[in-house]
Amino acid sequence: MPLAQSEARAAPAAQAVPDAPREFAFSEADFRSLAKVAYDHAGIALSESKRNLLYSRLSRRLRVLALSSFREYRDYLAGNEREIEMFINSISTNHTKFFREEHHFDHLRSHLVLPFVQAAHASGNRRLRIWSAGCSSGEEPYTIAVVLKREIRDFRSYDVRILATDIDTDVLAKAARGEFALPTIDEVPKAYQGYFNETRGSGADAKVAMDPEVKSLITFRRLNLMEPWPFRGLFDAIFCRNVMIYFDGPTKSALIDRFVQQIRPGGWLYIGHSESLIGAHPGLHSVGRTIYRRDE
Ligand SMILES: C[S@@+](CC[C@H](N)C(=O)[O-])C[C@H]1O[C@@H](n2cnc3c(N)ncnc32)[C@H](O)[C@@H]1O
Repeated sequence: MPLAQSEARAAPAAQAVPDAPREFAFSEADFRSLAKVAYDHAGIALSESKRNLLYSRLSRRLRVLALSSFREYRDYLAGNEREIEMFINSISTNHTKFFREEHHFDHLRSHLVLPFVQAAHASGNRRLRIWSAGCSSGEEPYTIAVVLKREIRDFRSYDVRILATDIDTDVLAKAARGEFALPTIDEVPKAYQGYFNETRGSGADAKVAMDPEVKSLITFRRLNLMEPWPFRGLFDAIFCRNVMIYFDGPTKSALIDRFVQQIRPGGWLYIGHSESLIGAHPGLHSVGRTIYRRDE
C-alpha cells in the first residue's frame, strides 16, 4: 500500500480513539465554579490549561468524601470552611527546596545579617525580623535560619525571629515537624550540613531532622496572603518567592504594595526567579536579580 494511502487510512482511526473515560463527570461549569473558589479565597488564578490538573488533584477529595460527581462536590464545598481549606490544600503547588536561588541567601548574609551584627554592637539594635511568605514545607525558612545561626554566633543574646506562613495547612504541618528525607541534604552546601541531624530510619525512611536551636528561630503560622495581616512591627526582609506566579497582575501588584508597607525603610524584598515586578511600586526599587529594597 502506498504510504500516503496508509496514512490517510490511519489518520481517522487515530482521531476516533476516544479520551479515556473519566471517573467523575467534570463539566465546563464545574471547572469555572471551582476556579472561582480558588480565586476568591486564595487569589490563585487557574487558566483553562489547568483543567486536568484541577481534576486530578480534586478527584482524590471526591473519593475520600465518597461523592460521585463534581456537581456534588461543588454543593458540598459551598460555604463549608473546613472543606475550602482542604480544597486549597489540594490545589496549591508546593514545590520548594533548600537554598533554592542561592544568590538570595548570599545577599541576605552580606547585606542584612553581617551589617546587622556589626551595627548591633554600636547601635544596640538586636532585633531582626524576617518573613517567609508562602513557605511551603519549610525549606525556605530553614535555609534562612541556618544562615542566621551560622553568622550570629551568640544568637541567644539577640532578638531574632523568622515568621514562616502559608495558606496550606498540610505543608505547614510538615514544615513544623522539621524532618526531611535524607537525600535532601544534598541540596545543602557543605558548610551548613551540620545543622541537619541524621535520625533513625533506613532506606527510603531515612530522615534528617533540623537542629532544635535552628528550629527555635522560626514560628510557623497559617496565613492567607489575600486576607488582612495581623502584624504590629515591620520586617527587615520579606521572602515571597514562587508564590505570585499563581496570581494575576492586579492581585500581584496589590500584594507588592502591601509588602512595601510591611518592610522597614532600607529593608529587602526577595521574589522568585520568574516574577520580576512590572510597573512602579512607590517606595521600592530594584537592586539586582529579583531583589528589591524599600527606600530609606
Ligand atoms: C511553589 S511554593 C513556594 C515555596 C517557597 N517560597 C520557594 O520558593 O521554594 C508556593 C506556596 O505558596 C502558597 N500559597 C499560594 N497561595 C497562597 C496564598 N493566597 N496565601 C499564602 N500562601 C499561598 C502555596 O500553598 C505554596 O506552598
